[in-house]
Amino acid sequence: MSYNVERLKVNYKTLEEFKKFKEYGVQELSMLEDLQENIIEDNCDSPFYGIYFGDKLVARMSLYERNAKYDLYFDPPQNFLELWKLEVLPEYQFKGYGKKLVEFAKSFGAPIKTNSRMKSKEFWEKMGFQTVTYDMERDLGQNPLIWHPDGVKEQKTNS
Ligand code: COA
Repeated sequence: MSYNVERLKVNYKTLEEFKKFKEYGVQELSMLEDLQENIIEDNCDSPFYGIYFGDKLVARMSLYERNAKYDLYFDPPQNFLELWKLEVLPEYQFKGYGKKLVEFAKSFGAPIKTNSRMKSKEFWEKMGFQTVTYDMERDLGQNPLIWHPDGVKEQKTNS
């Protein structure tokens, strides 16, 4: 089956779809407020990408471009992508949607950092991500995993 990854628009329909996902939180609420208060325009691009099955959003992820000056993960330091909130609705899991979204993120050619939830580590490893050497100062409370194109290395930390 072919799935299309789409950049999601900020509008009331998308925000309603987001309520079906477990990781619905501050980011979504703040988008809703910004929309209600006309701080952002209806239908503007969001940092989310997703896959629809018919007219139902079944998988999504949030992708942020981070500037090299904030890069503590890659060598040489460079612009990278931060991938958050990858989630596939329960009845659509194990059908390739998660993989499709991760492949889409990789297609930008930049290194990627994500933060793994407890039980999804095996999925990330299958996607070619590796756990970084844990750095207490940098990674406090997180479980970062990274993927990088050839020629890029993991940044060595001081600890
Ligand atoms: N543990 C181990 N392997 C996993 C896995 C998991 N939790 N989820 C997927 N995989 C494997 C698949 O079997 C598949 O392997 P294959 O290529 O050898 O066939 C590969 O990873 C790609 O799987 P895919 O179908 O693209 O995964 P998905 O669409 O279900 O997306 C998650 C993966 C983790 C994003 C999705 O399951 C999800 O949102 N889960 C809910 C939140 C969570 O973290 N759950 C963890 C499980 S309780």
